[in-house]
Amino acid sequence: MGRCPACNQWNTFVEEVVVKTPAARHPSAGPAKPVLLHDIDSAGEYRIVTPDAELNRVLGGGLVPGSLVLIGGEPGIGKSTLLLQLALHFKDVQVLYVSGEESGQQIKMRADRLKNNSIATGHIHVFTETQTQGILKAARELNPGLLIIDSIQTLYSDLLDSAAGSIAQVRQSTAELMRFAKETATPVFIIGHITKDGTLAGPKVLEHMVDTVLQFEGDQHLAYRILRTTKNRFGSTSELGIYEMRSSGLREVSNPSEILISQKDGPVSGTTIAATLEGNRPLLIEVQSLVSPASYGTPQRSTTGFDHKRLNMLLAVLEKRCGYRMGMHDVFVNLAGGIKVEDPALDLSLCVSLVSSLEELPVSEKICFAAEVGLGGELRAVNRMEQRIAEAEKLGFETLYVSRFSLKNIDHKKITIRLKAFGKLTEVFADLFGSL
Ligand code: TYD
Ligand code: MG
Repeated sequence: MGRCPACNQWNTFVEEVVVKTPAARHPSAGPAKPVLLHDIDSAGEYRIVTPDAELNRVLGGGLVPGSLVLIGGEPGIGKSTLLLQLALHFKDVQVLYVSGEESGQQIKMRADRLKNNSIATGHIHVFTETQTQGILKAARELNPGLLIIDSIQTLYSDLLDSAAGSIAQVRQSTAELMRFAKETATPVFIIGHITKDGTLAGPKVLEHMVDTVLQFEGDQHLAYRILRTTKNRFGSTSELGIYEMRSSGLREVSNPSEILISQKDGPVSGTTIAATLEGNRPLLIEVQSLVSPASYGTPQRSTTGFDHKRLNMLLAVLEKRCGYRMGMHDVFVNLAGGIKVEDPALDLSLCVSLVSSLEELPVSEKICFAAEVGLGGELRAVNRMEQRIAEAEKLGFETLYVSRFSLKNIDHKKITIRLKAFGKLTEVFADLFGSL
């Protein structure tokens, strides 16, 4: 350009070559040449077993050294509590707990609340810093056995100008933490907030960068919290950890079925028990429905913990295939404990509970159900029947209603529970309620 558009002078431009620095290689990349898969050493399956059994379960058996684990969840669900509690119980390693959200005093107060007297805190280092380079410098000096970052949205990297919490910053800081984790084989936990609609810059962009993504969820007003694996490079993604939030912190719930079935005096209409499976974990869940005549024009359908569309489908099946006039009624469905379940085996239990409420006919508390319902009103088989049977037996149920296609491969000699197998919904209703 001959003339400068800013100062209107001629020939004042000087050429300057911008040298492009090669992009940093991905931290997990090995030698820069292809090698035979055959020649790569399998780094023996080494896991750090944490003091939290539920966490070990969702991680696939423990923490992998050098792994980067993201814990996502809505604000206030208990992410900081979960990780501080983990740090407190992790006595044999040095823990660096970095917080950009709370002051040292706040963390101290929370720690006092969480620990019972026997726990010493000499192994936890608290660092209230938000600059990524500063954090990594401290981490390299301290060389901790576990690094916790609360939260990724508060970090900023000096290498970028944008504000903390922006997508670019979050991504940059994560990349730097990733490099640290891989180079030093330190396991790193990062906390990430998501909003109700999951749109905030943050965890979504990170999911492909980190090794493991855990989702901490639950209803803030209810005590139960679920830790779910949504991505895991070192294990299965169908694992589930359950906690109860108490005034003294999170309690691991090792036997969830017992809490998901409420205590009551005698059977109530509209209440049934479903033998479901979340991940690899059998859960017996109480399904409650209330079907009552609609007083105004359009009937209402409302659900907690169950898919709304699936409910509509099941209502249509009950109407069309079984002749129940659900279209004239308001329908409310509730799964106990505020837990969200996607297992199709819940279908039969829900259908029975709907009809039980509609007809005011209670179902015995000694019965539970496990079958998927198809559009034709037929009962379909569900997977891992043995596990469901074992859980139902453990909790003292006497009868389990299943699809007749579920009976294949079942060793009847080992089973003490009574299995009732049917092909159609109508047959189940006839068996339970007699001919209506
Ligand atoms: P917190 O861990 O701060 O949530 P997050 O880091 O996900 O934003 O926990 C928030 C809630 O947990 C808070 O509302 C109070 C409750 N809580 C308890 O019920 N018991 C406890 O012992 C602690 C520490 C917190
Ligand atoms: Mg927090």
